[in-house]
Amino acid sequence: MTPQARTCLSRSLRTPEYYPTRTERAILKEYAGEMIGQAGNNLTLVELGAGSASKTQVLIEALLRRQLRAEFYPVDVSSSALQSALTTLNGHFPRLRVSPIVADYTHQIPNLNALPGRKLALFIGSTIGNFEPDEALAFLKSVHASLQPGDALLIGFDLIKDADVLHAAYNDAQGVTAEFNKNMLVRINRELGGSFDLDGFEHVAFWNHRKSRIEMHLESLYEQTVWVEDLGRGFHFEQGERIHTENSYKFNRTSIALLLRRSGFKLEKAGPIPKAGSARHWQGCKARGELNHSAVRAGDVHGNLFPAHPLEFGVLPQHPIPMPNSYCCFSFAWRLL
Ligand SMILES: C[S@@+](CC[C@H](N)C(=O)[O-])C[C@H]1O[C@@H](n2cnc3c(N)ncnc32)[C@H](O)[C@@H]1O
Repeated sequence: MTPQARTCLSRSLRTPEYYPTRTERAILKEYAGEMIGQAGNNLTLVELGAGSASKTQVLIEALLRRQLRAEFYPVDVSSSALQSALTTLNGHFPRLRVSPIVADYTHQIPNLNALPGRKLALFIGSTIGNFEPDEALAFLKSVHASLQPGDALLIGFDLIKDADVLHAAYNDAQGVTAEFNKNMLVRINRELGGSFDLDGFEHVAFWNHRKSRIEMHLESLYEQTVWVEDLGRGFHFEQGERIHTENSYKFNRTSIALLLRRSGFKLEKAGPIPKAGSARHWQGCKARGELNHSAVRAGDVHGNLFPAHPLEFGVLPQHPIPMPNSYCCFSFAWRLL
């Protein structure tokens, strides 16, 4: 299972501390009409890593307010998630044709050019944060390359925020994230004949400020050797030795701008400027027809992508559990040529 898939599963187990899912949903609810309107007419939706597409329904509703019929191509490695999306969407949207695609988007983005209409590709769920930086860049370059002139991309980013909020989100009081983290050992035991003692490892999650990421580890509580039958070998752990299980990168204005620019995207326009007390917003940027980074002046990116507003990304929590709408953002891109 990819880190992205693992992350999605954990996110479906919502805890009060875990803000991204409800935050993204709230942003979509507020701006779906504007996002769809910005992407243009006669749209076909494609979602990379769609899962059950529950958040996407907000965009589909907005789309079907603008056009009589629409097509939706959810892409996912999980055929069961796609089946669930298909059943739900068919029940809710008689004017939507759903065509699931089972594929691994890290190996090959489906040929979006072959799909009908102008595409709006979605990459939501803040999943971009589960890629290592070089993987994120390669992935976005491949998405860019798969889009045609006039197509668009909507992508969600989780923003850097107060370390206490991040810490709480990944160390929830109910222990849901901890249990999920240990599920990797459960699966090794079950599927590879492992002999991990689940009580012999402790969930550790912390904010790595220097790398701008939440790290999840499993720490051995005592010196032990774990045999994994299918691999035919044992793994020795000292007391306190950790297995690094997952990263979740967080972004700020500079890192989003750099990532978009380096993968060939260029800002078109900024979305609504957030009001005081809220950092919710989405952003618009354009993709150049070719990956000509040198042609994008820094001023183009920084000057337009992030209008000078002190509250844009900088809102700190008033409450230990952040309110919806406070901490994520979407970027919006489309091809020019
Ligand atoms: C975090 S969930 C997001 C689901 C949905 N986009 C949302 O925002 O609610 C990530 C989804 O991506 C899928 N996924 C993870 N890695 C993938 C890959 N390499 N190729 C295709 N789908 C993948 C998972 O199966 C999961 O359904």
